[in-house]
Amino acid sequence: MKKIDTTASINGIKLPLCIMNASGVLCTTEQELSNLLNSFSGGIVTKSCTYKPRKGNVIPRYFEWNIGSINSMGLPNLGINFYLSFLEKKKINKPIFLSISGLSKEENYFLVKKANESSKITAIELNLSCPNIVEKEKMLGYDFYQISNFIENIFKFNKKPLGIKLPPYFREEHIKNMALVLNQFPIFFVTCINSLPNGLFIDPMKESVVIRPKKGFGGIGGSIIKPFALANIHKFYTYLRKDISIIGCGGISSGKDIFEHILCGASAVQIGTQFMKEGISVFERLKKELIFILEKKNYSSINSFKGKLKNF
Ligand SMILES: Cc1cc2nc3c(=O)[nH]c(=O)nc-3n(C[C@H](O)[C@H](O)[C@H](O)COP(=O)(O)O)c2cc1C
Repeated sequence: MKKIDTTASINGIKLPLCIMNASGVLCTTEQELSNLLNSFSGGIVTKSCTYKPRKGNVIPRYFEWNIGSINSMGLPNLGINFYLSFLEKKKINKPIFLSISGLSKEENYFLVKKANESSKITAIELNLSCPNIVEKEKMLGYDFYQISNFIENIFKFNKKPLGIKLPPYFREEHIKNMALVLNQFPIFFVTCINSLPNGLFIDPMKESVVIRPKKGFGGIGGSIIKPFALANIHKFYTYLRKDISIIGCGGISSGKDIFEHILCGASAVQIGTQFMKEGISVFERLKKELIFILEKKNYSSINSFKGKLKNF
């Protein structure tokens, strides 16, 4: 039987496996990050960090059911200095994506500058799509006027490979416009998609919401958002410059889901809700399931079918 290649290249960044964690899920503390270093994941994305450590929103702030999750975490993180010094101490065996989510544009400039000083960081994932912060300025991922100037300023000093974590868009013109903006800059990758903002899950028995912050409203992840993730990936694949890679995220819980993300144009994928549900063994299981599908379909690598979704 021929060997199946499940490695990935994100605009030249080599991942030993095309599957990694999504920012925010079990990647906040020293223990969680150490677990990821020792796992099968092909890369590590850190919890989106701010300058100062944050406790985040009141609990309960995360809830999951069979096909989805809702969260309003409020960016609980240990502050950028913790992540930089953790990485300094460790032997790094896979690409590290430092996720940054400043509460203002100025904080983001500061954080990107700090990340540039660390040789342990492979790339920056700039989160412009966090849906759960009360004190934050308008979400930049939905601000078509300000984002161009903001990214232009970042590239005045940034020298690291940099990607942008995008929110879901629901109209083709929004994806086209965002791609037109992003195509003007030396961006390495985009990650699509962050949680679907402003969902509401309720418990009909208790006649109540299931999370405390924001009267129960939160970002939705898990299987139910996969069609939106696939649509965003496929449209961005159409409109983005070909050298900007897409990291697919949203609704992956099986090897088949990964296959679909890649078929739509993803070069690698991230796992959020399912990693939360299943724990660190999820990466090995998903790798096995993906290999099984590729064997059956006689594909030797993910590049053989990436972006090749057929129309009728
Ligand atoms: C508990 C939780 C915390 C999250 N925190 C972050 C975060 O800090 N930064 C970020 O970019 N996305 C964050 N996300 C969004 C995920 O990275 C991912 O984009 C989203 O959950 C969709 O993927 P999924 O369907 O696999 O869950 C979080 C998601 C969850 C469930």
